[in-house]
Amino acid sequence: MTQITTVLTEAIAGQKPGTSGLRKKTPVFMGRHYLENFVQSIFDVVGAAGKTFVLGGDGRYFNDRAAQVILRMAAANGAARVIVGQEAILSTPAASHLIRLNKTDGGIIMSASHNPGGPNEDFGVKFNMPNGGPAPEGVTEAMYRRTTEITDYKVLEAQDVDLGRIGRHQLGAMVVDVVDPVADYAALMESLFDFPAIRAMFAGGFRMRMDSMCAVTGPYAVEILENRLGAPKGTCVNATPLPDFGGMHPDPNPTWAKALMDEMFGPDAPDFGAASDGDGDRNMVVGRGIYVSPSDSLAVLAANAQLAPGYKAGLKGVARSMPTSAAVDRVAEALGIASFETPTGWKFFGNLLDAGRATICGEESFGTGSDHVREKDGLWAILLWLNILAVRRQSVAEILREHWAKYGRNYYSRHDFEAIETAKADAMMAALRGALAGLPGQQIEGMTVSTADDFAYTDPVDGSVSRQQGVRVLFQDGSRIVYRLSGTGTEGATLRVYLERYAAGPDGLDLDAQAALAPVIRAAHRIADIATHTGRSAPDVVT
Ligand code: G6P
Ligand code: ZN
Repeated sequence: MTQITTVLTEAIAGQKPGTSGLRKKTPVFMGRHYLENFVQSIFDVVGAAGKTFVLGGDGRYFNDRAAQVILRMAAANGAARVIVGQEAILSTPAASHLIRLNKTDGGIIMSASHNPGGPNEDFGVKFNMPNGGPAPEGVTEAMYRRTTEITDYKVLEAQDVDLGRIGRHQLGAMVVDVVDPVADYAALMESLFDFPAIRAMFAGGFRMRMDSMCAVTGPYAVEILENRLGAPKGTCVNATPLPDFGGMHPDPNPTWAKALMDEMFGPDAPDFGAASDGDGDRNMVVGRGIYVSPSDSLAVLAANAQLAPGYKAGLKGVARSMPTSAAVDRVAEALGIASFETPTGWKFFGNLLDAGRATICGEESFGTGSDHVREKDGLWAILLWLNILAVRRQSVAEILREHWAKYGRNYYSRHDFEAIETAKADAMMAALRGALAGLPGQQIEGMTVSTADDFAYTDPVDGSVSRQQGVRVLFQDGSRIVYRLSGTGTEGATLRVYLERYAAGPDGLDLDAQAALAPVIRAAHRIADIATHTGRSAPDVVT
């Protein structure tokens, strides 16, 4: 029986997408009508009749059930076809690629990215546009408005689709194509990078550790690194996606990927280490005994991208989010290409990529990517590093040191203060904003403030303006502090303090980042009076 039912519902408060889709605690998402209201609001805004969508997620708890609901609702709303990853699995970049490859009308990705998963952890849903990128604010706002006025949703009464079987299925009048989640993505990677060179490097004894953190990139990493590139079996660890990520916090940073860090700084460290997040769009790379900050990674990738076949023609431009260090700007200057500074959130790169004004983009939040898809892409970044290592035949440490010697070093770190009471965090930011006008000219920790503002961005392509994107305090010596509240959490507030200091070299390029940043860190605490407002004097996470 396949009958379309219209279910009466009521608006549910708080279905407002954040930095990257709607993210809530899993029990909230599993609550009565919660998922259905949001999905109907998506279809009401983008229209489903006759359309083709991609569907997949990072495999976290509720991923499989939510996929069946979304499929039945797509069918009831008149969609013609949905392309689904087997078992409803797709990494975020692979979903973006499938949307583009199949010229679909967009896609729904089930993920809460790097947030923990499980019955009491996080779940999320987001819509990506036909270009493969996250819906822009105008669209997510319209979806949110729709959630506030929704009165019913449509669902098809039908059996579950067997998402384990690759091939074509029928759901009412809608076609469901279940596809291998890895194949098309792996082919794309093979088209961009010098696989023979990387294969030769592995054959020559190069050792790598890839930590997928029990999240979605496991099958992608095994297929690409071990099967296609010949990395020894066991190179990929935590490579089976689990609904609760094995209890891990699948966020690839030095705090949460501690096992990888310990190995890379240990006595038997391999040549190269990498990790990726819940949905596969973030990455962390580590050399033997040396951590690569995401901002430096972006700069090195931009400077060396031409070594990879997919980027041989050079870069059209580069873009970074405002809190990301200016290291990549120096590379752009040397290459004579444009560099753009956008607000936090991958969606802000979309227009630049679509318009052909930027080729490589990156963020301090462990995201790097290019115009090959419209999401950041963890494995892409890891493969570009491998390509560079294979061609330059140097260690990560040597590449970084040469980079700093040439461009100078932007010492950089982010300090996170997690689970602060929202009211207190808001009060701190309000006080900081109120104090901005009085800051220029002040001497703090031996540095003089040159300017202080709240970052606003005018999109150079469509002219849209985004305000209040983070408070910046810039010093005359080039140091910088940025304060922002996280837009991806599901409970309380996380204060992020981004710290940067430039060293031109040739001396002072090899310091410990925290030591080099010490005066900037002290200034950051003084200017915002973090301890008084939040009761915290030390960060929970340091990247
Ligand atoms: C997601 C987005 C990124 C963004 C990050 C910021 O991962 O995809 O583009 O940089 O969130 O997170 P935050 O918690 O700092 O708002
Ligand atoms: Zn992610």
